This record gives sequence, structure tokens and C-alpha cells, in this order.
Amino acid sequence: MAGLFDPLTVRGVTLRNRIGVSPMCQYSSTDGHPSDWHLVHLGSRAAGGAGLVMTEATAVTPDGRISPADAGIWADAHVAPWARVAEFVKARGAVPGMQLAHSGRKGSTREPWLRSSRPLAVPPAEGGWSPVGPGPEPFDPASPTPEALTPDGITDILEAFRRAAGRAAWAGFEWLEVHAAHGYLLHQFLSPLTNRRHDGYGGGFDGRTRLTVEVVRAVRAAWPDRLPLAVRVPCEDWTPGGWAVDDAVELARRLAAEGADLIDCSSGHVVPNVTYPVAPGWQVPLAEAVRRGAGVPVAAVGAITDPHQAEAIVRDGRADLVLLAREMLRDPYWPLHAARVLGRPDAESWPDQYGYAVRPAHREKS
Ligand SMILES: Cc1cc2nc3c(=O)[nH]c(=O)nc-3n(C[C@H](O)[C@H](O)[C@H](O)COP(=O)(O)O)c2cc1C
Repeated sequence: MAGLFDPLTVRGVTLRNRIGVSPMCQYSSTDGHPSDWHLVHLGSRAAGGAGLVMTEATAVTPDGRISPADAGIWADAHVAPWARVAEFVKARGAVPGMQLAHSGRKGSTREPWLRSSRPLAVPPAEGGWSPVGPGPEPFDPASPTPEALTPDGITDILEAFRRAAGRAAWAGFEWLEVHAAHGYLLHQFLSPLTNRRHDGYGGGFDGRTRLTVEVVRAVRAAWPDRLPLAVRVPCEDWTPGGWAVDDAVELARRLAAEGADLIDCSSGHVVPNVTYPVAPGWQVPLAEAVRRGAGVPVAAVGAITDPHQAEAIVRDGRADLVLLAREMLRDPYWPLHAARVLGRPDAESWPDQYGYAVRPAHREKS
């Protein structure tokens, strides 16, 4: 079995190790344009030794943002600032990945750090919009009320994902992930808790999964054959009557048949007021179930913080890749520190500029 610091090759791309920076919204964009913050934030984590550095949920349409400060890839003008980020990440030896997303009924909400002092829903006068969803029900009473997507609206969204995938390739990204989890648009269609449609995009499993399957098909067609495509899939709603891990296994099989290369296994956040069984590595069993059940490569995410824990997840064949989110915020150099802890000096790829701090022979130089 491979270990944490063994490379992972998917299609024509090789990650230098099995450690990825999980997508994390930064709420630091203007009209979808990534800023210097993204260059420094994502660039630091590439310099920190991760194999894969993913962008945050990057909106395929303006109304697919979560907040007005979200990053986007809905316009050609977004390509140049993203290209700067992708180029720097590559120069530091990491693979730049982009997560494509549409927030659905969770759109037009406030940045998290403003939510305690201002209403959650952002009104149009403050840059908000009317979000869309599978139906007209809001996420919760504080969220904006969505409009149910029409067949034409669905066609537009498929086209937006397709065009966004083309722009991601144009910007130099080498890994793409479709966000179908965390209660955003695609998950809203997947879950029986939120999809009450009576047309071909609702009802049973085939109808509820149709939008996600069609998005992946459209993205795969626009994304170069030599580049990997992942899908972040919900593996549990943690609510009776909701989407569950067997659904995720069957969806993973269908997405693999559409050309998805890896399933990133997450869960939850499609309905409010749910208690999650959070503990170290709490979602790893879901990733393992999808890997075994569907026979596809998977990423595991959720409370992975310790190098030995991460090494065991990969070494025991529970996941092919581990993604770290909050731990990477605390320590951008986590992969380099993990290499030290696990006794892999060959993987301690500190930037030459930092050699004085980490290589004994340099320490006494002035
Ligand atoms: C600040 C922050 C922003 C996040 N934004 C995204 C996002 O844009 N897309 C996504 O799929 N998950 C997002 N997540 C979820 C993480 O990618 C990850 O799945 C989750 O935090 C669990 O991993 P952790 O326990 O290592 O933090 C975000 C998490 C945090 C903490």
C-alpha cells in the first residue's frame, strides 16, 4: 500500500504526495475576481509542501456565489488573476486545483464574520440577489427565499459549469472538482430532504441524481482528457429520510462512468439543526465505504490533523488522498512538519529561501 508521501498519479497528473489543501472559502473577492489574498494564501500552502492545493468553492455564475465576496470563474476576466495563482502554486511543486460550485438556495448570504452583527440574507441594495434552488423553500427562516429552477434555468447552469471548466483549464489549473456536497445546489437536488420536484430532475434516485450526472458530463467534455476530474459528494445527510452512504456509493459508480476520476467524500449541511458526530477522522469510514463499494479512488476529509493519523488512512487503503482544511489554516507548513514527524527527510521540500531556518548546515551563516 502507498504511504502519505508516495506520489499519486491520476490521468496525466502526478501529486508529489497524498496531502491536499481542502477547498476553503476566503470571502476575499470583488465581483468574483481572486485577489492578492488568494495568491498569498494558496501560494503559502504550496510552499508548505502540499501535493494538491485547491481553490475555494469558485462560482460558475454570479448567483452561484454564497456571499458577494466569493470567488468566481463565470467571466473571462477571472482567468488572468487565477492564472497568476495557478502559476505560483505550480512553481512551488504543487498541483493547482479548482473547485467549481453553485450555491443554489444558500446564495446571497453574508460573510461568516459579519453574520453575528448583520442579518444573514444580503438584500439586493447591498449586492445580494434572488437565489435559485430545486424548489421555493429557503434553507432556514433567516436565509433568502429561492426561486425554483425552471428547465431553461437548468440548461443555463449546465452551460455555466461547462464554460467554467474551460476557463479553469485556460487559467492553468490541472485538477478540477465539482462541488456536489454541503447543501449547495447539486446536493439540494440529490437529497430527498430538499428535492420535492415532480419533473425529470426530482422523484426517485435517477431524477435526483440527474443534475449532478449531467453537470459532470458537461464538465468532463470541456476539461482536457489528460487532467483529473474529482467530485465532492455528500455521503450522509445525518438526518432520517436523507441521503445516505449507499446513495453515495451508487452515485460514485455513475460518476465514474461519466469520467470522474476521484470521489471526495464529505457530508452534511443540507438542512439546518443537525448534530454531527465530529471526532478525529469522523468521515473516513464514509470514504472507505465509497472506495470499497464503488471501486473508485477517493479523498477523505474531516478532522484529519495528525501525521500518523493521515499516514494510516492512506497506508491502510481507506483513502487515496487526504484533504486537510482547518489544520492547514493553523499550519501552512503541515506537510513539511509531517514529513519530519514521519521520518521522511526526502519529502522535506522547504523553499531554499527558508534553508537557514531548517537546514543545520546553514544555521550559523550570516
Ligand atoms: C473557512 C472554511 C471554508 C470552507 N469552504 C469550503 C469550500 O469552499 N468548499 C468546500 O467544499 N468545503 C469548504 N469547507 C469545508 C472543508 O473543505 C472541509 O471539508 C471541512 O472543514 C472539514 O475538514 P477539517 O476538519 O480539516 O476542517 C470550508 C471549511 C472552512 C473551515
